[in-house]
Amino acid sequence: MIATAELHVHLEGTAPPELIGRIARRNGVELPAGMLAADGRFHYTNFLHFLDTYDLAASVIRTAEDYRDITYEYLASVAEDGGIYVELTASPDHAALVGLSDSEHYAGIAAGIDEARRDHGIEARILISGVRNFGVEAVERVARHAAQRPHPYVVGFALAGDERVAPGQFAQAFAIAADAGLCCTVHAGEWQGPDSIREALRLPVTRLDHGVRAIEDPTLVRELAERHITLNTCPTSNVVLGVFPSFADHPLPHLRAAGVRVTLGSDDPPYFGATLAGEYEVCREHFGWDDQHLREVTVAAIEAAFCDEPLRAALLARAHGPDPAARPSQEPAAN
Ligand code: HPA
Ligand code: ZN
Repeated sequence: MIATAELHVHLEGTAPPELIGRIARRNGVELPAGMLAADGRFHYTNFLHFLDTYDLAASVIRTAEDYRDITYEYLASVAEDGGIYVELTASPDHAALVGLSDSEHYAGIAAGIDEARRDHGIEARILISGVRNFGVEAVERVARHAAQRPHPYVVGFALAGDERVAPGQFAQAFAIAADAGLCCTVHAGEWQGPDSIREALRLPVTRLDHGVRAIEDPTLVRELAERHITLNTCPTSNVVLGVFPSFADHPLPHLRAAGVRVTLGSDDPPYFGATLAGEYEVCREHFGWDDQHLREVTVAAIEAAFCDEPLRAALLARAHGPDPAARPSQEPAAN
């Protein structure tokens, strides 16, 4: 088994319908109408409808314990498939909408991280995310809160939501986050093309979430490679949402061949039928990547991670080291 690492996954978007149902029952709230299709999966017909369904599911997540459970269950599932590190993109706006304070929100996620480390040996950190369609002021508020309330697990600032709201409007929010020492990433180049990516690159970011439509402009691809910008790509999300018609049409192999640093992420796993290990398998099956290629993807993720240097060094040793699944068999035999 290859050691994997993930920089692009939305925390509320990791909870499958079964867990959302369990949390709703515990909180005594009805499942929102229209959230699920007849087959029990999340229901949406396009990206904007997906964002609405995501908001419906997030509306039943109410307590620190809910956030603990979602974090723990996701990290346990990733660790089971060889995952060693995850950066969880968390949205304080979604927590605030149900009346949860930032400190309870952080405490719930941190408890999930601590318990997953104890039980499954996986590490995780938090990226605080603004939602661009909630407006510039809301995103600046999120950045200010993150800047004013440092937390050891909060290492970065991200921007998600409807990409048609242009990234340049959020320059002030990114300046606030960057000035507070938070590393920054931004969704770009999924629904909008090269111009939007260029605008995003004027923000203080070292990574882009998606970024794959850079392929439409070879000069931009060269710039990404030269500036060592890491693209946190999510091939299954892209194909399910129709950004590209099939894996055969996905530009990931071309971006990688052009020297752009790329990582793999599941984005919103149960919505897209994705898992982190599954994204590695997609690359093996559709792009012909072998173990060496896939290990390089994990190393690229750890090199681009927003964690501290001692953790990065420990993760790099694990990524280069023996198969994570093989660790128990390296113990001396009992007799
Ligand atoms: N893309 C953009 N915004 C999001 C997503 C996503 O996949 N999930 C939650 N917010
Ligand atoms: Zn995303």
